[in-house]
Amino acid sequence: MALTQTQQFQPGIGLTTTKAPFIEVARSRGELYIEQPYELYSEENHEAWRRLYARIQDRWQRYATEKFLEGVSKLCLDPNRVPRLDDVNQFLAPLTGFKAKAVSGYVPAYIFFDCLRRREFPTTITVRDINSLDYLPEPDIFHDIAGHVPMHTDKRFADTLVRFGEAAHTAARLVQEIKDPELQVQRIISITRALARFFWFTIEFGLMRGRNGELKVYGSGLLSSYGEIAHAIESPEVQRYPIQLEWVINQYFEIDHYQPLLFIVDSFDHLFDLVDQLERWMLEGKLNNVSPGEPTMSEEDIRSFLEAVVD
Ligand SMILES: [Fe+2]
Repeated sequence: MALTQTQQFQPGIGLTTTKAPFIEVARSRGELYIEQPYELYSEENHEAWRRLYARIQDRWQRYATEKFLEGVSKLCLDPNRVPRLDDVNQFLAPLTGFKAKAVSGYVPAYIFFDCLRRREFPTTITVRDINSLDYLPEPDIFHDIAGHVPMHTDKRFADTLVRFGEAAHTAARLVQEIKDPELQVQRIISITRALARFFWFTIEFGLMRGRNGELKVYGSGLLSSYGEIAHAIESPEVQRYPIQLEWVINQYFEIDHYQPLLFIVDSFDHLFDLVDQLERWMLEGKLNNVSPGEPTMSEEDIRSFLEAVVD
């Protein structure tokens, strides 16, 4: 039976991933950007946050890059309660201009990248179910706020995200100039695939050389996973290589298991330069025919590039 409006907005009803009536209503209304209705979080949601946050502390100390650890302390996250985005932004915005912006779910590719260009980070506000803390295919607030946002306190990293958003803007401009509709779609798919792969192997799953040459994690998919952060550094089965752009843009990935292949950057200056190079390659046509395979682009992703405002 459908919940009445009063029940959907009842305090404490919960904002649990895939089980939040508030989110379903927002999506059915086509609302992408939403408020964070903080009073709807249940005690179980707060408890899930508390457990996730508590158990990963030691692993962050051991495996995370020091830039991330500095970011965590700058954000003053409450270990016991789901964070309020407004509180996070009060600490974050003065540092790099970035802000976490609540969204109701999946953000089409161009819109996501364009938010980065404007120093906005689309942020999921739901919390994973307390009975499945280890794995969920969807992002949640722990992934977005505890995994991504501490990195946004670092100036060079933040500038890299903006630069990446600019590269996506260049991509939209390039594809909108193409007259043949079939070629246009083929081109969007190839270039976006290259951009998404780059994002995946760096921002989500990147490794970096630490001060003494040891490997550290800066990718948010790893930083928000209790199991995979250790696996990424310790497992002899994981292939870890110095990043090569030509490899990254042609390498498919799968999201439903630990990553068997990771790439290492030297620094965030190095990462920034790679985004520059990625855009140069795009302009030269080198991203027009990257190898097929994951990720696939949805109709919405394609349309987001076609409908992008490129001035
Ligand atoms: Fe992410």
